[in-house]
Amino acid sequence: MDIHHPRELRDAFRDTNSAGACQPGGSELSGVSAGGPPAVPPYLEKHYWWAYVRPWAVRFFERRWLVNLILWGNYCRLRDAALNALGQALPGKTLQIACAYGNLTEHLNRRVKIGGGHLEVVDVLPVQLENLRRKLADESVRLLARDSSDLRLPAASYDRVVLYFLLHEQPAAVREQTLAEAFRVVKPGGVVLIVDFARPARWHPLRYLWLPVLCRLEPYAADLWHHEIDSWLPATRSVRKLDKASLFGGLYQILRINT
Ligand SMILES: C[S@@+](CC[C@H](N)C(=O)[O-])C[C@H]1O[C@@H](n2cnc3c(N)ncnc32)[C@H](O)[C@@H]1O
Repeated sequence: MDIHHPRELRDAFRDTNSAGACQPGGSELSGVSAGGPPAVPPYLEKHYWWAYVRPWAVRFFERRWLVNLILWGNYCRLRDAALNALGQALPGKTLQIACAYGNLTEHLNRRVKIGGGHLEVVDVLPVQLENLRRKLADESVRLLARDSSDLRLPAASYDRVVLYFLLHEQPAAVREQTLAEAFRVVKPGGVVLIVDFARPARWHPLRYLWLPVLCRLEPYAADLWHHEIDSWLPATRSVRKLDKASLFGGLYQILRINT
């Protein structure tokens, strides 16, 4: 497996818009084809009830300025780095595993539309999918209530799979299973894109200030400080190329894996 640290991934981060350039959200729409929602994973109920599970949490956190604050003012840069790592036009089928607050999915869908492709989003919580449906102006985006560790989607059926700030929220065994599922459903010749936390450089003040806070709020996040994401990739995976870049002094990482 080749591991590259290409300038283009880092530049994707540097060249993105400033926080002020965030676009407003879409219009109000309703309807989610859940098809029998899976059980709420115990780690999500135990550690993230306040962030994702309760309806009032969705209402509270679905604020662009707040998500931007939580990401230290990097929301738009991180979002656009992910989008630019995928490309301007995204034909074929794209799968986003897990919803996100903010407008990542709207922007992703714009590029999917430019490419004449189709976007699907899964999340284990119907309340999150309903929130996303309200934000999306395009009803053709398919929303599915699925657990990332058991997608129940056909193998080798997506041209690209996006994992945006999901892995740090999951216990190691679930994280590994999520990655195994991502690699199972992506086509040979496809892309798995991961954006998540990482350990900041030694000079970075947040290396010393942020970890205790993160550990308290997000108990599995420290795993991404101490281990490479590559170490959780499924043993049976087929990886042609792995591009990796550090963002914002190493606080975040972006991996583009070609299968
Ligand atoms: C992808 S993370 C995004 C976090 C990030 N702070 C944001 O909102 O931009 C949060 C989402 O992951 C979902 N999630 C967590 N565990 C999951 C699982 N096992 N399967 C599917 N979705 C999951 C949660 O329901 C939540 O909607």
